[in-house]
Amino acid sequence: MNATINLEKEHFPVLLDELISIISPLYGGSFIDCTFGNGGYSKKILENKSNKVFAIDRDLKSLKIAEKLKKQFINRLNFEINTFSKIGNIKIEKKNIKAIIFDLGYSLSQIKDPTKGLSFNHKGKLNMKMGLNNYSAHEVINNLSEDSLIKVFKTFGEEKMSKKIAKKIIIEREKKNILNEDLVKIIDEVKKFRKTKVHNSTKIFQSLRIFVNKEISELIYGLINSFKILPTGSIIAVITFHSIEDKIVKFFFRHYSEDKKTSRYLPDQKSPNKLFKLIKKKPILPSLSEISKNPSSRSAKLRYGIKINNTNNFEEFLNKFKYLIEIENLSKKL
Ligand SMILES: C[S@@+](CC[C@H](N)C(=O)[O-])C[C@H]1O[C@@H](n2cnc3c(N)ncnc32)[C@H](O)[C@@H]1O
Repeated sequence: MNATINLEKEHFPVLLDELISIISPLYGGSFIDCTFGNGGYSKKILENKSNKVFAIDRDLKSLKIAEKLKKQFINRLNFEINTFSKIGNIKIEKKNIKAIIFDLGYSLSQIKDPTKGLSFNHKGKLNMKMGLNNYSAHEVINNLSEDSLIKVFKTFGEEKMSKKIAKKIIIEREKKNILNEDLVKIIDEVKKFRKTKVHNSTKIFQSLRIFVNKEISELIYGLINSFKILPTGSIIAVITFHSIEDKIVKFFFRHYSEDKKTSRYLPDQKSPNKLFKLIKKKPILPSLSEISKNPSSRSAKLRYGIKINNTNNFEEFLNKFKYLIEIENLSKKL
């Protein structure tokens, strides 16, 4: 889930060379880094003097890193704390945008940050807020209904024991508020301390992180709204870290890059629904050497498309993933 690794204080953004080789022929313009994090991608882009970067991150901690980079690359970096789904409301000079980049998930510094409570080893109140959130994992675990918890665990964590875990949470939270360590204990007890390669809590924690940060709605509206501000000929590039994210990104690029012929007897026409040119249908994966240096990069997938048409109609995309957005919206009952 984490895209960067902090070895001796140095950051290694995932698939950096691959991403740069995709966008570098477009150098000499503006690039939007929707997930600035520790600034790994932005910095690399700015090393070319003819580039400007407009960066966004929802985590306030990125601000300090951005301020430092601004001094290094004077007048070429803009940074705003915001969520990328709001990209349409952000003041960005749209004229010369060459590419928009998303590196989803969390940085290792966020995972390690005890105030964020993203790790199973954290003790105390559950949190998981990346920044600009309306509620925390504490509120979710201690207030959301049993049915809703089951839906969150099943859909966003693909956890087979969702029902049993939700039931136990409801019983335990009658006695006292459930803290991080209590949740880990509940999951261990339900799973009977089964020894597997992955930690017993991985799936439930993933589902909570997605739910608390509304990662699905963010991604879907982030893609749609980025598309709207992007001039034709520019690139959208997305790095995903789990299967739900990848399913969404894959559909977005593939569905809107296929020719939709009304009849096989008609000539191959340029379909108005075709929004992207895809250079590669398959995702780009990290090399073995990258995985050996940074094992958490192993689940990363890079997909990209070149915008070739304009549209305001993303109904099919929205309908396809409406069920996921509806589950995130269960938070309205909190
Ligand atoms: C994997 S890190 C990015 C690392 C970055 N590419 C680098 O090289 O340092 C993901 C970053 O995206 C941010 N982020 C995740 N979802 C976001 C959203 N919806 N809006 C804005 N920022 C988001 C996180 O706060 C985190 O800092």
